[in-house]
Amino acid sequence: MKYFIGNWKMFGIPGSIKILDRINNYVKKDKARSKNYKVIISPPYTLLENFTKSFKNKKISISAQNCFHKNNYGSHTGFVSPYMIKKLGVKHVIIGHSENREAGENNHILKEKVLASVKNNLNIIFCIGENKYEKRKKLTLNVLKNQIRKSLDKKYDFKKILIAYEPIWSIGSGKLPSENELSNIIINLKNFLKMNYNKKHNFRILYGGSVDSKSIHKFKKIKHLDGFLIGGASKSSKKFIDIIKNFYK
Ligand code: 13P
Repeated sequence: MKYFIGNWKMFGIPGSIKILDRINNYVKKDKARSKNYKVIISPPYTLLENFTKSFKNKKISISAQNCFHKNNYGSHTGFVSPYMIKKLGVKHVIIGHSENREAGENNHILKEKVLASVKNNLNIIFCIGENKYEKRKKLTLNVLKNQIRKSLDKKYDFKKILIAYEPIWSIGSGKLPSENELSNIIINLKNFLKMNYNKKHNFRILYGGSVDSKSIHKFKKIKHLDGFLIGGASKSSKKFIDIIKNFYK
C-alpha cells in the first residue's frame, strides 16, 4: 500500500472542498490501481468537521495537521486536543512537522502528543527530518533516530503509525535528496526500527519535501518507500492527481 498524503498547512476555506471532490472523483475512477494506494488530505482545523462529514465512506480520508499534547479538555486557549479531533470522526493526525518543531515543539512535547493520540486510537503520521547544517555535518541518521527514539514507545501499535521523513532543507525549496541517499536513509531507518522496536513489523516510511509531478519520477524507483507527504502540490487537484498518475506511469 502506498500513501499519498496532502498537507495543506495554512491553506483552505470552505469552498476549497472542490479540490477534494476532484481528487475523490479521480480515485473513484482509477479502480484498477486505487486498491494499491490511499489518499489522505490534511486541511486546517477550521475545515476538519465539514470535510470529514463530506468524505465519510468516500475514497479519501481526512487528517488533522497537529493536536495539543494534553488530552480531553483544559485551559489551553486556541488549542485542540486529540480527543476533540477524534470526536469529529477524524482518524489521522500529523505530529512533529518540522514547521512546528521550529516553532518550539520539542521531543518531550511530541512524546506527549503521540501518547495522547495513541490513547484516542488516532493513526499518526510522525514527521522527522534533519536541517541543512545537520546534513552537512553528516548527522542525518543520528538526528532521525534520535527523533524517533525520543517520542515513539516500543509498546505502540505501529500499524497505526506512519513515519514521514521530511528533510527540512527540501521542504518548499525544490531541492531533493538523490535516489541513493534517500534509499539508504529509508533502508537504514527500517533496520533501526526492526532492531529496536519490533523485529516482525513492516514499518512504513514516507518521504516529504518538494514532491511534485516531476520529482515523483525519481522517487518511484525506490521500492521500500511507502508513500509521500505532499505540501505545495496538494493544494491543486491537478497537481496532486498528476503525482499519482506519474507515479504509476
Ligand atoms: P512541500 O511539498 O511544499 O515541499 O512541503 C512538504 C511538507 O512539508 C509536507 O508536510
